[in-house]
Amino acid sequence: MDLTTEYLGLKLANPLVPSASPLSRNLDTSKKLEDAGASALVMYSLFEEEVREEDSLMEDFMFSQDIGHSEADGYLPVSEGYQTKTDEYLAQIFSLKQSLDIPIIASLNGVTTGGWIDHALEIEQAGADALELNVYYIAADIEQSGTEVEQLYLDLLIEMRKHISIPLVMKLSPFFSSVANTIRDLQHHGVNGVSLFNRFYQPGISLETLEVIPELHLSTSQESLLAMRWIGILYGQVELSLAATGGIHSAKDVIRMLLSGADVTHLCSALLKNGPDHLAIILTQMKAWMEQNEYDSVSQLKGSASKVHSVDPTAFERCNYMQVLHSYKA
Ligand SMILES: Cc1cc2nc3c(=O)[nH]c(=O)nc-3n(C[C@H](O)[C@H](O)[C@H](O)COP(=O)(O)O)c2cc1C
Repeated sequence: MDLTTEYLGLKLANPLVPSASPLSRNLDTSKKLEDAGASALVMYSLFEEEVREEDSLMEDFMFSQDIGHSEADGYLPVSEGYQTKTDEYLAQIFSLKQSLDIPIIASLNGVTTGGWIDHALEIEQAGADALELNVYYIAADIEQSGTEVEQLYLDLLIEMRKHISIPLVMKLSPFFSSVANTIRDLQHHGVNGVSLFNRFYQPGISLETLEVIPELHLSTSQESLLAMRWIGILYGQVELSLAATGGIHSAKDVIRMLLSGADVTHLCSALLKNGPDHLAIILTQMKAWMEQNEYDSVSQLKGSASKVHSVDPTAFERCNYMQVLHSYKA
């Protein structure tokens, strides 16, 4: 049975790819993921905020020394062992590349172009096979139009594309007026793939302190329906790689994503909950289903229930909205 798939121009052994998570911070765990069947690995993100904060601390530190007292200048040299977050991240790319055979996809999480490009270049030089850009942006400014928000994504991509030659994939939010049109624009500006969708963590409010507090919940399979619909709509209409992210927990979730047209499926919550070996279980169940249903390869499965190949092309759109609501039994 041929489980291979192509993602961002990379030939992968199967469509199971652990998505950005703390699992990739540890070399042993990363190796376990590879042994259990991961066909590539998306690393945890290097965050714009932490890099910025560190850069500005370093600038202050250097500046405060250069105060014109020649004997005082350089009095507090930066320790040779000092590692910035970026240094640590680059070292982790290097170690993962040394220890694993599968492609390593680095991840940058931020939204502005300034200063960011240098870090992307360093990531490329450290050996990453591709770069995922997680544009975690909440359009909370009431003055900012949808077009301005979309331009932000395009500007970031255009600037990255000028300097970076490894494949670029953007992890997007579902909150665009026209998801498909925005993705086509990104394709025109050189993105190699999109990962659908970024999961925004919603803040809660503490009833004890009345403070706004972060809340982190792992996903469930139900969440996978959002990406499945959009991948089903996009398949055949765009020429870029499609990664499904969010709510992929079982072989059933993976197979349905492939049927809608995904090239790869990203898993995070399922692996945090069940550990790396969960990948091997999914692979076994996926092969059994394919055998039962007489599929020889993943490419045969891919997109066969997408909008372009569906008996009812409107099914992905209104999804029999009225009937669904009327079918609810109190
Ligand atoms: C603990 C934790 C850490 C995460 N870290 C990152 C990260 O560093 N960068 C990123 O782009 N996404 C990160 N994510 C998001 C996941 O990669 C993934 O997109 C999201 O959890 C939805 O997939 P899932 O339903 O399989 O969990 C993180 C998620 C969790 C739960």
